[in-house]
Order: sequence, then C-alpha cells, then structure tokens
Amino acid sequence: MIKNNEKLLSLYVHWPYCEAKCPYCDFNSHVNEVIDENQWIKSYKNQLYYMKEELLRNDIDFKNLNTVFFGGGTPSLMPLGIIERILDISSNIFGFDTDIEITLEANPNSYDRTRFIKLKDIGINRLSIGVQSLNNKYLKFLGRLHNIKDVNIATRDASSIFDNISVDIIYAFYDQDLVEWTNELETFLKANNLHHLSLYQLTIEEGTKFFKDYNKGIIKLIDDDLASEFYKVSNNILTDFEFIKYEVSNYAKEGFRCKHNLNYWNSENWIGIGPGAFGRLWSSNSKTKRIEYQNYKNPKTWVSRNFFQAKFDKITEFDCHVSDTDVLMMGLRLYEGLDISKLNNRSIINDDSLNYLKKQQMISFKENILKIHEDHMIKLNSIVNYLINP
Ligand SMILES: C[S@@+](CC[C@H](N)C(=O)[O-])C[C@H]1O[C@@H](n2cnc3c(N)ncnc32)[C@H](O)[C@@H]1O
Ligand code: SF4
Repeated sequence: MIKNNEKLLSLYVHWPYCEAKCPYCDFNSHVNEVIDENQWIKSYKNQLYYMKEELLRNDIDFKNLNTVFFGGGTPSLMPLGIIERILDISSNIFGFDTDIEITLEANPNSYDRTRFIKLKDIGINRLSIGVQSLNNKYLKFLGRLHNIKDVNIATRDASSIFDNISVDIIYAFYDQDLVEWTNELETFLKANNLHHLSLYQLTIEEGTKFFKDYNKGIIKLIDDDLASEFYKVSNNILTDFEFIKYEVSNYAKEGFRCKHNLNYWNSENWIGIGPGAFGRLWSSNSKTKRIEYQNYKNPKTWVSRNFFQAKFDKITEFDCHVSDTDVLMMGLRLYEGLDISKLNNRSIINDDSLNYLKKQQMISFKENILKIHEDHMIKLNSIVNYLINP
C-alpha cells in the first residue's frame, strides 16, 4: 500500500515551442511565436500556487521538491526570466532539497555559451542535449536543424559548464549500418565526458508526418531481429564505457541516474505545469486514490485561462486497477525490477502468465521483486500486457 508521506515530489515544467516541428515528434510542440513573457510567468505562477492548495486539500504531506525538469518543446529557447521566476516561486512554495536535480532540455542548434553559463547561474544543474543522431544523413531524415558539427560543439562546450550532461539519441533506422553505428557511438563516447544517455529506437506516432509517410510506404522500420541486435550491441558498448543500464532506454555513470525520471518510474508524486503537462498525486485521504491533472494542450488556451475558468482540461481519478497497471508498466521498465508490495492488489498479476514467463526465463520473481530479464527488455510492453489480468 502506498504511504503518501514516504513519496517524493517532482515538478515538470512544459515549454511548448520549437524552431520547427520535427516529422516524427508527437510531443506538445509548436513552432515558435511571439509571447507575452509576463503573462506566461503569471500562468506558471498561478498553477504552482493552485497545486500547493491541491496538495493540502488531498492531505498530501509533501516535503521539498527533489527534482525539477524543464521539458518541451525546446526549453533552451525559453526566456531566462521565465525560468528564473519559476525556480524562485517553486522554491518559495515547496522548498528545494539540498541536492535537488534541475534539468533543462536543450537543442544543439540553440546552443549559445553565454546563455548556458547564465542557465547554470540561475540553478540549472543538469543539461539534456537533443543530439538525436551521430550521423548527418539521419539528422536530415529526422528533419533536424543541426548537424554533427553543431552536436560536437554543443556537447563539448556544455561539458565545461555543467557537471551533469545527458544526451538523447535515436538509432536503429531502417537502412542503418550496424558497424557504422558502432563506430559512431564509440567515437562520440571517447570524445565526450557524458554522464547519462537515453537511446531510443524510432517509433511511429499517430498524427505525425512520419505516420502518414509510413502508411504510404515512404518510410520503413527496421525488422525486430535487427532492432534487437542494435540494442544488444549498444548495451555492450555502453557497458565498456562504464555506463550502467538502469532502464530500458537509459544508461548512467555511477551516481548519475536521472532522479526525475526515476520518480515517474517509481510512481512517486509529481506536479506538471505548462501546456499539455500532466501531474499525478496519490491522495492520502484514500491510499488507493491517484489523481491525474491534465493541462490544456493549446499554448494560447493554457496561457489565457483566467481565475474563473477551469484550472485543468481534465482531472481524472484512477481506480485501483488503472493505478496498479500503471505502477507495473512503469516499474518494470527498471532493471532493478519492481517491488510488488507497491501494488494495491497483487491479484492484478495473472499467476499462470507469471509461471509461464518464469519458465521461459523471460522474468524472475524473488523476494517480492519482479524483474524482466535483460534480453527481453525490448519486449517490455507485450510482456506486461500478458502478465496483467484484464
Ligand atoms: C521532448 S523530446 C526532446 C526535446 C528536444 N526539443 C529535442 O528534440 O531534442 C524527448 C526525446 O524523445 C525522443 N523522441 C521523440 N519522438 C520520438 C520518436 N518518434 N521515436 C523515438 N524517440 C523519440 C527524442 O530523442 C527526444 O529527444
Ligand atoms: S525539437 Fe524536440 S520537441 Fe521540438 S518538434 Fe523536434 S523533437 Fe519535438
């Protein structure tokens, strides 16, 4: 059973603007437009105060924030004054842990040394750089505005400013050569002092340009066996470079796991502010009740809400089954596995499925810790769906 006062608290801040819309991206991102900085600060501030009231109303015994994450969109384009105010206000309202992790996502083409020194000065202590590919051919395919030279400049220079650097890379494209990828990844890791990597395989998301192209046969996806091969080879390279694989797509040097994402995977409490952001809180009035707050997606709608309008687009109360499914889905992403005493109702797990998966050595289950075997992590979603009783 979840005990609320043992939960950590995170803050996610969404910035919805980018220089251009990438053809594969279904995040809530829109091409840059002129904004009224004060109006945006006011809206973020109102939401922070409102969420503090929600925490109190739901009897959530919150301590300090242990992470803040500026995600997007492209938050490296965010006016510094807005970032600074959000950090001031949230620190006053909630308090910051002494070792708080404050991440900002940055795109290599909006990298500017002076600006990044200022970002560090105002409190950003972790930078997540959207490298996306180590090859110009695929950067072009992904519609990115930067090239590999921009990647190298941004990554090397940022390392001289920040003590905690992460990069996002998409790999295993349809016609990608495994040997070429191996060389690119090794060369990049040798040249840069990175602390964390997120390596994703391309997914085709509904509503994107890639979705239409895929359905017309203009673009293709790599086959599953080759995708597994790319995954295994990449895992081995990262192990050689002393990265610990701690989640299906995430690798960290010792002491540099992303605390913010761990809060999602461990189903802690988090507040989400900004267009389209969502937050989830466990209510201590009822230990099985989890509430999700979903913000208006459209940036103009979100920023222009006034005091008399609905604060959120949607507030949903999860029932026990939905909460437990989510706790399982998220927790099993972690290589350490999930302590199933976190579930409200253990019978969500189908025992026949559990025994079958154990026999096939796809999962292990010892002393309450349920874990997916390393080689089968890539099939995570289908394994979890098979495990759960409908
Ligand atoms: C919000 S986006 C990052 C924001 C930042 N503007 C950027 O593009 O670098 C988070 C990450 O999700 C990954 N991503 C987004 N869409 C994806 C897709 N369709 N397939 C695989 N990875 C994707 C990218 O690596 C991206 O860096
Ligand atoms: S820059 Fe990032 S958030 Fe913006 S459209 Fe591209 S992938 Fe999406």
